[in-house]
Amino acid sequence: MKSIWSETAQIPKYPFLSGKCFTKTAIIGGGITGILISYFLNEAGEENVILEANEIASGQTKNTTAKVTSQHGLIYSKLLVQVGKEKTSQYAKANQNAVLEYEKLIQTKGLSCDWKRIPSYLYSCRDVALLKKEEQAAKEVGLKVSFTTNTKLPFPVRSALKQENQAQFHPLKFLIGLLNEMTIYEHTKVEKIENTKNGLYLLYTSKGIVTAKRVIFASHYPFINVPGYYFIRMHQERSYCIAFRNAQILDGMYFGIDPDGLSFRNTEEYLILGGGSHRTGESRKGKQYERLKKAAAEFYPKAKEQTAWSAQDCMPLDNIPYIGRFSKTKPNWYVATGFQKWGMTSSMVAAQLICDLIIGKKNEYETLFSPQRVPTLFSVPQILDEGKHAFKGLARRLFLFPKQQIEQIPVGQGKVIEYRGEKLGVYKEKDGTIHAVSVKCPHLGCELNWNPEELSWDCPCHGSRFTFDGHLIDGPAQSNLKKKKSLKK
Ligand code: FES
Repeated sequence: MKSIWSETAQIPKYPFLSGKCFTKTAIIGGGITGILISYFLNEAGEENVILEANEIASGQTKNTTAKVTSQHGLIYSKLLVQVGKEKTSQYAKANQNAVLEYEKLIQTKGLSCDWKRIPSYLYSCRDVALLKKEEQAAKEVGLKVSFTTNTKLPFPVRSALKQENQAQFHPLKFLIGLLNEMTIYEHTKVEKIENTKNGLYLLYTSKGIVTAKRVIFASHYPFINVPGYYFIRMHQERSYCIAFRNAQILDGMYFGIDPDGLSFRNTEEYLILGGGSHRTGESRKGKQYERLKKAAAEFYPKAKEQTAWSAQDCMPLDNIPYIGRFSKTKPNWYVATGFQKWGMTSSMVAAQLICDLIIGKKNEYETLFSPQRVPTLFSVPQILDEGKHAFKGLARRLFLFPKQQIEQIPVGQGKVIEYRGEKLGVYKEKDGTIHAVSVKCPHLGCELNWNPEELSWDCPCHGSRFTFDGHLIDGPAQSNLKKKKSLKK
């Protein structure tokens, strides 16, 4: 399904890379992070190319809610405990500065992208204590927030934390204005990277080879497992949005902190309602869109659905994105990932930090975001949780065989069945056509789960996703699922 951004903006098309290309910096990923990095490198006179596996902004950039803010859920009360006041203040400053940098860029380039300064709110219908704690923490690190119970939401809240002067925009209109003068190759998936003897890198794509001095991974989830080991440091989560016409225009961007909390933001014309976040691969019951529709029907009876879409976010172990050098053993590789639900703001932080590292300019946030940081003791529960999911994903594939048979597969849904000693994911179309694929994730072998909402096979370990007939949607996996040609009863 198209997001409201894809419905209302047209991104230009670019050719694929054919043959050889030489550049200083190869940027893998043509989402907002890759494009901002390319922009700042161009400004600094550093040659670069963008290599995009699909089309520009076709990944998470088009699926965002496009809030630009330093208010990131209950982040400051968590970080204060986890990394102390100095680093928490840096986090606040980096993200607050990103809001200013967007504005500066938009004004300098005269970009017409519906940029609007607007307050941001966290709200709860149940809890006061959590937001009080967050208020204290945010104030302690220098943010201007205020506590209120008075909001324009269509239901009463117990508490809300308001932060003035944050921003929202149209992410695709913003990018369109930046694309001039960039070298971009679409449908150019990097499949392999090799070192050369003279310290350069060869990036192999389906029809070409790029030789570069540096490589930047700006592709959401890095697809290289070793070095870096990002697969043991992140999982992915999905969340859902619907844009409605004829709904009330609110005075700010709202984010619910309760487990079933909803998020609200407007464009000039639409209300975007979001929610239903869950770990990728763990949505067996689905019904996330239904919940959003029910809420809209209750709060805005005249609202009409315009479009619905979903997003996928990388969640780091310690609530801080990984931005900087990819690994100690690859000094000329850089990475920007783990943006949680705040990809627009983090993209700006990442683009400036990586650009500074490349041109040798000091950046005060280098240590905070360094992917080489050692996890604190507070990350231990998350580390154990990641281990538990990986174990479960592998164990289910190896030992537990379900007894479902082909005849029992409902039309329009997928099921895992046992077929001649093998586990297969089977999907039945209305006309009876059966699609059978291996449920072994090609990334690191966990068993995939069926996602009834989006008709996809999703991996609970690191979040790779595949269509019902096995085509790759999201990495870190790099290939499609193996197909079973025919199933004989
Ligand atoms: Fe890593 Fe599936 S995404 S095993």
